[in-house]
Amino acid sequence: MLDKIRKLEKEISEFRDNDGGALEEFRLKYLSKKGLIPSLFQEFRNIPKEDKGKYGKLINDLKNEATEKYTRLKESVDTGDSQSGFTDLTRPAEKSFPGSRHPLSIVRNEIISIFQRLGFTISEGPEIENDEHVFTKLNFPPEHPARDMQDTFYIKRKSEEDSDPDDILLRTHTSSVQVRVMENEKPPIRTISPGRVFRNEAISARAHCIFHQVEGLYIDTNVSFADLKQTLYFFAVEMFGKETKIRLRPSYFPFTEPSAEMDISCTICGGKGCNVCKYTGWLEILGCGMVDPNVLEYCGIDNQKYTGFAFGMGIERAAMLKYQVNDLRLYFENDVRFLKQFSSSF
Ligand code: PHE
Repeated sequence: MLDKIRKLEKEISEFRDNDGGALEEFRLKYLSKKGLIPSLFQEFRNIPKEDKGKYGKLINDLKNEATEKYTRLKESVDTGDSQSGFTDLTRPAEKSFPGSRHPLSIVRNEIISIFQRLGFTISEGPEIENDEHVFTKLNFPPEHPARDMQDTFYIKRKSEEDSDPDDILLRTHTSSVQVRVMENEKPPIRTISPGRVFRNEAISARAHCIFHQVEGLYIDTNVSFADLKQTLYFFAVEMFGKETKIRLRPSYFPFTEPSAEMDISCTICGGKGCNVCKYTGWLEILGCGMVDPNVLEYCGIDNQKYTGFAFGMGIERAAMLKYQVNDLRLYFENDVRFLKQFSSSF
C-alpha cells in the first residue's frame, strides 16, 4: 500500500501538461470514479484498524494534491494564463485567417504575367485625363458619333455640345495610357496598361460606373493581323485552358482599322451551348484591331514605317468568366464571405 501511494505521489508531482488532452487523461487516470486514487480508498477498507489513521491521511493528501494540480492546470489551459508557469509554449497558435487577394487583383496579375512572358512592359497613366488623350488622338473627331459610345464623366468642359481637347474628364478606357506611351517612346513598343476606368452607366449585374481594364499595344515594323491573332490566342489558352478556342468578329472602334471583337469558346460547356453562353457556345472577351494609321500620326509615329495592333478587355468580365460570377456588383461590395473564396499564387 505504501509503495503504491509513494509511486502515485511521484507520478502526480512529475506530471507536466502538454495540451488539454493530456490533462484530461490525468483526470481520468487518477481522479475519476474508476481512477487510481478512488481505488486506493477501496483498498483502504481492508486495512487493519491501527493503520487506518496513517494511511487515511496519506491517501487524503494524495487526493488533495492531485485535485489541486488538476484545477490549477485546467485554469491555465482555459485562460491561457502564463502567470501560472504552466502555459504550454509548444501548443499550436490559434488559427487566424491571413486574408486573400481580391479576385480582380488575381485576374489582373494573371493577365499581366501572361503578357509579360511575351515581352510586354507595364505602363500606367492618370485616371483624370484630358480629351486629347482619351479621344482626339485616338481618332475621335470632335463631332464624331463614336464619342457617344462611352458616356463620359466630365470634370471641366468648355461647351456642353462640342468636345474640346482641353476638356478634363475621367478616362473611359486605358487606351489613353497608350497614347502617352506612343508620344514618349519610339517603336518597337510592346506594352500593356492595366487600370481603373469610369463610364456614366447605371449600376447593374452587368455594368458599373467604375471598372478595370487591361489594354495592350504592339508597334513595330511588319506587325500584322496574324500577329494579333496569335498573341490573343496564346493569351486565351493560358488564361482559360488549353482547350479554349477563339473567334474574331468584325467590329468598329475609331482607333483601329480593321477592328474585331474576340470571343472564346464557352468556359462552362466548352462550346456545346448552355445558359451562360446563351446557347451560342461563345463568350465575348475583348476588343481589338490594327492601330489606325491616323492614331500613329497624331502620336508622332511614322505610319509609313510602322504598323501595330491593340486590344482591350475588362478585368471584371474576364474574372466573371473565369470564376463563373454572375453579378458584377459582388466585386465592389467587400463581403468577406465572397472574397474568402479566392486564393491564388497570383
Ligand atoms: N478601348 C476599347 C474599349 O474600351 C477596347 C479596345 C482597345 C478595342 C484596343 C480595340 C483596340 O472598349
